[in-house]
Amino acid sequence: MPLVSMRQLLDEAAKGQYGVGAFNVNDMEQIQAIMMAARQTNSPVIVQASRGARAFAEDLYLFKLIQAAAELNPDIPIAMHQDHGNSFDTCKSAIALGYTSVMMDGSLKEDGKTPSTFEENVDVTRRVVDYAHERGVTVEGEIGVLGGVEDGHGAGGSGLEHITDPDQAVEFAERTGVDALAIAIGTSHGAYKFNKKPDGSVLKMDVLIAIHKRLPHTHLVMHGSSSVPKELQDIVNEYGGKLKPTWGVPIEEIQLGIRNGVRKVNVDTDNRLAMTGAIRKVLWTQPEKFDPRDYMKPAREAMAKVVAERMTEFGQAGHAGDYKPIPISEMAKGYANGSLDPRPSLAAR
Ligand code: 13P
Repeated sequence: MPLVSMRQLLDEAAKGQYGVGAFNVNDMEQIQAIMMAARQTNSPVIVQASRGARAFAEDLYLFKLIQAAAELNPDIPIAMHQDHGNSFDTCKSAIALGYTSVMMDGSLKEDGKTPSTFEENVDVTRRVVDYAHERGVTVEGEIGVLGGVEDGHGAGGSGLEHITDPDQAVEFAERTGVDALAIAIGTSHGAYKFNKKPDGSVLKMDVLIAIHKRLPHTHLVMHGSSSVPKELQDIVNEYGGKLKPTWGVPIEEIQLGIRNGVRKVNVDTDNRLAMTGAIRKVLWTQPEKFDPRDYMKPAREAMAKVVAERMTEFGQAGHAGDYKPIPISEMAKGYANGSLDPRPSLAAR
């Protein structure tokens, strides 16, 4: 199956009232782990690469691996997404490679660290939307600023500093025409999100619900959605790791989000923890081992287990065969004739 537009994948998720995990990749084993889980649970998938991942793996290696995944798994719809594009040029280069979706994170300036103004965000996101939609490619924007840093991208801080203002979210969706909207509700990238199980004072589900009420047809995106399970932390620490106690986003809060318009759920850290725990275990308990396959195979299996769990918890499991992919060229026509125009004022059509 050719790569699928993320817009189609999220439209289908909205119809079925489920969420779709967007899992970050840097290498072959992570891509294989996601595909193992997708096959096992019969799930459509979003695979995403940050700028750091594209630099680490070299663009062409990573993209050819995704193409291999699509060829080897003809029954699984796969959207390939640029995570946290920092500029028009980053998004343009992803589209040139063949990515079917890009995130223009205009909530930060091009340095990927400094919060931008609302007008700067609207301007760069709108330009990416025009360019991408002409080519049938999906665009995710971000309003409000997430906490933490991932692969060098992020404003840092706790995630509570720039919570999304629902009025701004509505204006942003209308003026940019993004297909999906990432909002800041107190989550942050990385393992250290919360120092206790998060309650309403730190995880602003009420803000998410307010935004969904105002934008009922906009696909919302939750970044920083790893749950950082204690079991995964414990494996890392049992075999020589030094993780400090930490809490992630409880699955039940993500499921509450999915009932309120969240269609894309970003998960990276949980998979990193699962792989690292499995690798540490082999190297710690069998120090004589030196063949990378001896630890990469269990690492891949550990990640596939986490991904399959998330696919089931988010509700995408069982939905791979629900629809046929619309070619990207057809998506471009739909944007051009207005039938796919995602602006909220047109959504009631
Ligand atoms: P986590 O660090 O919580 O996995 O978040 C990943 C993410 O949001 C990628 O954009």
